[in-house]
Parts: sequence; C-alpha cells; structure tokens
Amino acid sequence: MTTPLSTPINTREGFLWGAATSPHQTEGGNVHSDWWQLENAPQSFVSERSGDAVDSYHRYPEDMRLLAEAGLNAYRFGIEWARVEPAPGVHLESELAHYRQMIETARSLGLTPVVTLHHFTTPAWFAHQGGWLHPDAVDLFARYVERATTILHDVDWVCTINEPNIIAAMTALFRQQAAGSGGSGEATNRDAVTSLSLPTPDTEVADALTAAHRRAVEIVHRKTHAKAGWTVAGQQFEPTPGNEAVFERTRRDWEDRFLLVSREDDFVGVQAYTSQKVDENGPVPHPAHPTNTLSGWAYRPDALEMALRHAWDVTGGTPLLVTENGIATDDDTVRVRYTGEALTGLDKAVADGIDVRGYLHWSALDNYEWGHWGPTFGLIAVDRTTFERSPRPSLEWFGRLARTAVSAR
Ligand code: BGC
Repeated sequence: MTTPLSTPINTREGFLWGAATSPHQTEGGNVHSDWWQLENAPQSFVSERSGDAVDSYHRYPEDMRLLAEAGLNAYRFGIEWARVEPAPGVHLESELAHYRQMIETARSLGLTPVVTLHHFTTPAWFAHQGGWLHPDAVDLFARYVERATTILHDVDWVCTINEPNIIAAMTALFRQQAAGSGGSGEATNRDAVTSLSLPTPDTEVADALTAAHRRAVEIVHRKTHAKAGWTVAGQQFEPTPGNEAVFERTRRDWEDRFLLVSREDDFVGVQAYTSQKVDENGPVPHPAHPTNTLSGWAYRPDALEMALRHAWDVTGGTPLLVTENGIATDDDTVRVRYTGEALTGLDKAVADGIDVRGYLHWSALDNYEWGHWGPTFGLIAVDRTTFERSPRPSLEWFGRLARTAVSAR
C-alpha cells in the first residue's frame, strides 16, 4: 500500500510512534467496574455488552508483539482501577503485578509504555457512592494512585485521567435525566454519545476531576520520574455565521477550562477525531452524510492539526502528545487516507514550532466502543469468537511510516 505522505514526517529524537487502547475496551471480564454494571443492568441504555472484550487481559503480549513487529515504538494502555481495588480499600497485589508485567513486556519488545490511570471506568463501589460527586472522591482516587504508582517507578509517560471533559459531559447527561429533563432511555443516550450532542460538561465534576488530576500529578512526580498529564477531547468547534459568542463560550466550557489545567503539566494528551459546528444553541449534532464515519462523526482528518494548534495556544506551550486519533471505518483504505491526512497536519504544526512528542493511533485493535461493537477503529481486526488477531494493511503502512520517520532523523 502506498503512503499518501510524500515526505517522512519531520519528528524529533524520541518521538513516540504508537497505538492506544483502554482497559475496559479490550481486557474483557471487567466485572467490578461501573460500566460492567451499566451494561448488565435491566433496561440499560447500553445496547451491547463488553463481555470478554477482545481478551487482551490474557492476549496483551500478542497485541504488543504485533505493534512492535510492524515498526511502532510505543503503546498506550491503562491500569483498571476496578481490578486493582475491587472493594473499597482492598488493593490486589496480583493485579498490580499483572500491569507491571505489561510494562515489562512492552519494554522487552521495544515499546515505550504510556500508562493511563483512569480511562472512563471506576470501581462499581465508587460509582454507587456518588462517583466524582462524592466528597471523598479525590482522596479515594489519590489512594488508588498511590498504589498504582508503586509499579510505575521506571515509566516515562503517565496519563492521569482520560478525557475529563467527556466524563463531566456524561455526568451532566445522567444528572439531567435523574432530574427528569433532557430525555431518558436507550435512544437518547446512544444518540447523545454518537452524535456528540452531550450537554455542557458538569462544572462540579470538572472541579473534582481537576483536583483529582492535581493530586495524581503530585503523586506521580513524587513516586516516579514520569512526565504526567491528562488527556483532553478536542471537538474542534467551528462557529456558524453570527454565533461566534456561543462558539467562544462552548469552547471555553468544553475544552479550554481543561486545557488551562495543563499549563502546569509536563504534557497534555491531545485527542481529536472530528470537528463540530456550533449554532445559537451550542454544538450541532453531525448531520447525516455519506462520508460520516461508523461512529456517526464527520470525516475530518484536519481535526488533529486544529486540536494541536488550539492546545498549544491555550496551554501557552505545554508539550503535546497525541494520545488518540483515528477513525471508525470498515474500509481500511479510508483509515490509511484519514491517518495520512491527519499526520500531514501534525507535520505542519511541527514545522511551525509546535512541540509534539508523539502520535498514538486510536486504536491498536477493534475494541468495545462504549456500548457498541460496530465502530471499528483498529489497526488490527479481532475475531470475537476465537479472538484471533488479523493485522490490517493500515498497521503495516503505519509501521513503515514510523520506521521511515525515525530513520530520516
Ligand atoms: C475515548 C476512547 C474512545 C474513542 C473513540 C475517546 O473519546 O477515549 O475510549 O473509544 O474516543 O470514540
């Protein structure tokens, strides 16, 4: 397969070329988590369950080997809080040993581990007592981070919290529903997520997550030599004519208040997939279009460059790490085209002096897309009955690109 990029991406020494996953979406059997309970509750809005996911809890060595053999040098994965602390205050050393083994396996294959401490899921007990709205939430998260960091002493990159802005927006949706407004039920929730028409992030949860992040960064710095940051979902909002004020407000509440937190951090994780219009009522759900992705989002590979430039401006120059970018498609040639176009944008941002430390494609594998199995983001396809992995041509293409960029330095 030929690359749509005519010249190698101009990246610095040590640039991370990798792929990303999260625990709940890949491991399987995450029975102590809030999401497992949500999926398996009667009349859940979640239409499909994670179940065995893609069994990466057991098959991670193969996943990592495929990435390394393709030519990548980094892998982002997470530690699952619900496994490490299935009951309040009960921390399982066996689970920490499992994640330690993942770190060592990655290293032995030449993959730099980028470790996420919290990727959407929490222990069910934490959710039951009010989640991030409970007065002790920050202390409880810090207690988990103290334990998790015991296995991270030699790790270089730690993402504390994945997409606090989406967590806060999801909470806003649940709160609206509990209060009897904003609709309820399966269709409403699913549509809200897929069309990106979630309500504005809840400020109380955003404050709690900010405090939790600050505590986590302090712990990571005290216990490890890792660079610490959180990852922020960029929507790349664009105003419709006359709606610039709503656009500014939307961007502030959805992104900038989270990016501003990263001014004090070692890096910020940039996560970008698409771009969304803002009209007088706020973000506009993606209109149906033949090129929309399998997750219902507009095909916008330029989203990455927009996100990088915006994160750089708002943080005032915090180093950037692309912790997620990719496309849900059943046509792998479209995945290559999208990724090539996104990387061309990254290259332009780098050429303008923006400090980008790596690009981690979402996702390494087709995985559980929060209620659905349909949107396939993977560089590697997975048979969900046999769990057989089939690397797609996009993995070979991406690995070659990574090797070329590294050797062109
Ligand atoms: C999340 C991932 C998710 C991806 C694609 C990000 O919001 O961090 O967990 O699978 O987007 O929807």
